[in-house]
Amino acid sequence: MAAISARNLTKTYGDLIAVDGVSLEVHDGEFVGVLGPNGAGKTTLLEMIEGLRRPDGGEVHVLDEPVWPRNAGLRPRIGVQLQASSFFERLTTREQIRTFASLYGVGAGPADEWLERVGLAEKVDTRVEDLSGGQAQRLSIACALVHDPEVVFLDEPTAALDPQARRNLWDLLASINDSGRTVVLTTHYMDEAQALCDRVAVMDRGRILRFETPAVLISELDTPGTLEDVFLSLTGREYRA
Ligand SMILES: Nc1ncnc2c1ncn2[C@@H]1O[C@H](COP(=O)(O)OP(=O)(O)O)[C@@H](O)[C@H]1O
Ligand SMILES: [Mg+2]
Repeated sequence: MAAISARNLTKTYGDLIAVDGVSLEVHDGEFVGVLGPNGAGKTTLLEMIEGLRRPDGGEVHVLDEPVWPRNAGLRPRIGVQLQASSFFERLTTREQIRTFASLYGVGAGPADEWLERVGLAEKVDTRVEDLSGGQAQRLSIACALVHDPEVVFLDEPTAALDPQARRNLWDLLASINDSGRTVVLTTHYMDEAQALCDRVAVMDRGRILRFETPAVLISELDTPGTLEDVFLSLTGREYRA
């Protein structure tokens, strides 16, 4: 079964073609990265796949279900990471995740276990606005996972974190995928895509240029190099996040 099947997705804003005829198949259990510079169309693409933004053209199935019009049956089966800034205000970490859990009929016990899994056991009584950037990201990931979804979407989960916090988060994301979930993330960090992803969709100006394993992309270069060099060879431009 394909976890995600997107065909010919298009989204325009006025004259701007943000996503330009993108097709994408993600296998069950895969860890996939959508990699590209700011403005490439990553968030627009992800939100159309999540069923949060309506495509102008094309269609998406997740777990063999159409995502649009909004598909209530699909909601409990997918997890969408909220940006850290979109927590309920003035709640503690524990209150936050229990609130999310209750929306899905999940009890307090499993919710609290997620705080331990993401390393926030010491912070259960801390208000969400007093968490560090890395802690807030881990809480938002725990909230996205609390109902045990089959497919998890993360939009730039490590943006604005220091290198150590990013590495810690990589371990967490890898363990989520190891537990059998399909993971799709967007990133503008080449090293992140290379470290984590089974396959990387290189995106630029609304199009996916290649969707391949990092090893294959790099092996196609004329001389040994990195994903930055892959981007240069695909676009003729230096990679700038
Ligand atoms: N709601 C919107 N209205 C107008 N333009 C938008 C909107 N959302 C995104 N865009 C534009 O679409 C392009 C792709 O944006 P986005 O999907 O956010 O890219 P990325 O996530 O790769 O940075 C950008 O040029 C952005 O300015
Ligand atoms: Mg984005």
